[in-house]
Amino acid sequence: MIDQATIDRIIDTAQIVDVVSDYVSLKRRGANYIGLCPFHNEKTPSFSVSPAKNICKCFSCGKGGNPIHFIMEHEQLTFVEALRFLAKKYNIEIEERELSTEEKQSQSDREAMLILNSFAQEQFTKNLFDTEEGRNVGLSYFHERGFRNDIIRKFQLGYSVELRDGFSREALKEGYNRDYLLKTGLSMDGQNGVIYDRFRGRVMFPIHTLSGKVLAFGGRILRKADKLAKYVNSPESEIYHKSNELYGIYFAKAAIQKYDRCFLVEGYTDVLSMHQAGIENVVASSGTALTPGQIRMIHRFTPNVTVLYDGDAAGIKASVRGIDLILKEGLNVKVVLLPDGEDPDSFSQKQSSSEFLKYIEENETDFIRFKTELLTSEAKNDPIKKAEMISEILKSIAIIPDHIIRSVYIRETSRILEMGEEVLIAEINKIKLGELENEKKPMSATARASYQAPPPASTAELPAPGPAPEAVPFRSSVFDRFELAIIRYVVRYGEQPVMSVADEETGQEYTYRVIDYVIADLNQDEIAFQHPLYARMLRYAEEAASQDNFVSETFFLNHPDSEISRLATDLATDRYTLSKIHTKFATIDEENDKLKDLVPRALFELKDAIIRMDIRLINDQIKQAGTEGDMEKVMRLMVNLNEKNEIRTLLAKELGDRIITRF
Ligand code: CTP
Ligand code: MN
Repeated sequence: MIDQATIDRIIDTAQIVDVVSDYVSLKRRGANYIGLCPFHNEKTPSFSVSPAKNICKCFSCGKGGNPIHFIMEHEQLTFVEALRFLAKKYNIEIEERELSTEEKQSQSDREAMLILNSFAQEQFTKNLFDTEEGRNVGLSYFHERGFRNDIIRKFQLGYSVELRDGFSREALKEGYNRDYLLKTGLSMDGQNGVIYDRFRGRVMFPIHTLSGKVLAFGGRILRKADKLAKYVNSPESEIYHKSNELYGIYFAKAAIQKYDRCFLVEGYTDVLSMHQAGIENVVASSGTALTPGQIRMIHRFTPNVTVLYDGDAAGIKASVRGIDLILKEGLNVKVVLLPDGEDPDSFSQKQSSSEFLKYIEENETDFIRFKTELLTSEAKNDPIKKAEMISEILKSIAIIPDHIIRSVYIRETSRILEMGEEVLIAEINKIKLGELENEKKPMSATARASYQAPPPASTAELPAPGPAPEAVPFRSSVFDRFELAIIRYVVRYGEQPVMSVADEETGQEYTYRVIDYVIADLNQDEIAFQHPLYARMLRYAEEAASQDNFVSETFFLNHPDSEISRLATDLATDRYTLSKIHTKFATIDEENDKLKDLVPRALFELKDAIIRMDIRLINDQIKQAGTEGDMEKVMRLMVNLNEKNEIRTLLAKELGDRIITRF
């Protein structure tokens, strides 16, 4: 582990202009530098480097960040690897943090298991190419299936011999520890302390990490046999969590990045065949349902996923299941169904790669078309079925977190289904409201009734640098943009004064900075941010703000949580321009001077949105109660509604007063 002081030193030393100049030729343009973006193809420069903020940013493709992000992106490294990379460039000696005994134990366990797996992979490959059994059985099987040697070598395929304990014995003889043989699952515990091989007489597919280490194996049986499973896989272990891995990602990541698209297939052999056909941006979910962790791994390289499944019923079902998950994670998804009975493996072996690519191009549909076509064929002329189908499609749209993307799909759906956009939007809002309703806490008199409080802040500990911990999946909310507007002020101007207030007793002046003001105001109304990322950021800012030299933008731009520093980069570079409401009050240049107007206003808008949502919910309930003839309930709700309307008026008045009196 690199200790925090060293991390800080690297961050302080690495100059963005210097770091980027190693890869991009930069020209001075005012206070900044510009050049051709290294992350996408372009003829006119849109890559901008700001020495003042020590960040870079492509205004065309959006990539960039601080020097560490730039290196992570450009060299395809993890956070820690990028730190080491920069430390080397600047001759900074890395002080390793002392590991605790447990950390040491688990680190050395993991290391030992990886080393053993690497040994196993070499053995299996040796068996395949250098033994008679391997060549006659394993290699000839691969050749029969049309796989070339270069592909077999590249993916480090192998063969496990048809012996009870051939591998286990070899490994023990070489001095590998029996414990690790069992922990990796390469061997299994028999009776009387003997161990035997998990994989026997199978062709072997090693499963690699992002950085190419072997985590596990899949072993395929050669001939159909009723009693035996087609694949035997390594068990879950300290190093292998099946649901977090994607087969082929190590070999695909560069191509995914380059083509800004990732093909998703089901099986090992699909990945191999597509590589053989020259299509390398492909990974497999390995037969299980896709997980958020896997989708996020793809998202590190591209937001665009094309699902390539078998055109049979099972394949279609798997596609539909996968689509909503991918949408929920904020990625764009397209679907290609192959002719019935073909999988990417068989199909890509039947034709040239250009024909295959052409097929993909011609048959690629966005998820709306895919769902529409699928459901139309099911619904035929049945109006009830048709209504169900429309609601299915709208459900998928409602999942999408980004409201701009959502509105693009709404337009598309409106066109395909020949329905008005307003009707669709109303329906989608209903779906979102329904979700809210389900999770709603009992209403309180304050303006937070429909607002779901996040789980209590775990004592705001900074996450360890490195891959982000598995985030809790969250539902996008109608409040996201209001929260984002507030976070934007916190990131850009957190340490700037908003207003001074005199203590009534002592008369002493107390200056509220943006961060203090936001925290105090939200606390007063008992509002907690709902968006997990924004909530986290606010918590960190509150903590960091107690330090003397707190500069919000710097703090966020260099935050070890890459999700945070990325968003900060976007916010610091005006990628999120002001909302319409805010542009009415200030241009970005004036923002700094108008914080005492703008910050309260942003907070007001969030509160107002919450209240409006409350009002809508109550109105719905009134309607419902009305149709049920429950007049008592209607009356009760009306009272409630009046209260809300009053709070709304009060809020607006408070905002107006404040702005009038303070300016
Ligand atoms: N799978 C598995 N265990 C099984 C069957 C399948 O782990 N008993 C996983 C494997 O990762 C496999 C994927 O699910 O690659 C897809 O299954 P399938 O399409 O049946 O396998 P293929 O890899 O396509 O194998 P083949 O073409 O050789 O039949
Ligand atoms: Mn197959």
